[in-house]
Amino acid sequence: MALFQFFRSTVGLKILMALSGLILFGFVFAHMAGNLQIFLGSDALNGYAHFLQSTPEILWPFRIVLFLAVVTHILAGYGLYIHNKIARGPIDYSRNAATKASLASRTMAYSGTVVLVFIIFHLLQFTVMAINPEYAAYVDSQNHHDVYRMVIVAFSSPWVAWFYVISVGLLCYHMSHGVASFFRSLGFTNEAYLPLQVWFARIFSTVVFLGMVIIPLAVQSGSLKLPDQP
Ligand code: HEM
Repeated sequence: MALFQFFRSTVGLKILMALSGLILFGFVFAHMAGNLQIFLGSDALNGYAHFLQSTPEILWPFRIVLFLAVVTHILAGYGLYIHNKIARGPIDYSRNAATKASLASRTMAYSGTVVLVFIIFHLLQFTVMAINPEYAAYVDSQNHHDVYRMVIVAFSSPWVAWFYVISVGLLCYHMSHGVASFFRSLGFTNEAYLPLQVWFARIFSTVVFLGMVIIPLAVQSGSLKLPDQP
């Protein structure tokens, strides 16, 4: 009961936010590294995807942890939003230019919501394949699902490619504040290390941004294409 009360307090919610954020950040980083195998060719990417799909003892525990982290992150974020709203009272001083809160920190709820919409679209497109059911029929010479072809065909549409670039940009903007707050939420409040934490967050978010958007941009520029494409 005391534990439940603790996780409803601002400190408890911030700890939940930080720990679930760490899991999500770890996933995004690992996913970026996995996706970059597209530059090694179709065998590398399709073999990697096939390994994950055919190893349910790894895939399903990982999916459950990821799902729980997303739900915890959203609920704790909503809880903090309500706490802050009550604490601020009728006049919202956070909108005052004189306050120190950055634009990223004041817009976390909005950038987070757009990222959620992007993830739902992304899952419907590449995992469930409900948006383009024809992707499910793409098979390579090894009889593996041709994820390589699916990604290149999807990003051949400028709308899809730019939607990804903008959404990943927002995700990284969201993460740049999230990673910096992570340290404060877990009690690393020494002012001397604050600039270091902010730079660490910026560098990691920039690496993830570049590592993700290079794929749609490479397809749009024609440097990443299918073997049977002119
Ligand atoms: C250019 C960027 C991206 C590319 C090319 C990409 C590609 C893919 C592909 C091909 C799959 C399906 C894998 C398979 O079925 O074998 C997938 C699944 C997924 N992606 Fe991405 N992705 C990108 C960005 C992101 C981002 C930014 C996020 C999250 C914020 C994300 C979250 C996910 C999730 C949660 C799954 C489902 C994993 C599972 O099957 O359990 N992706 N992605």
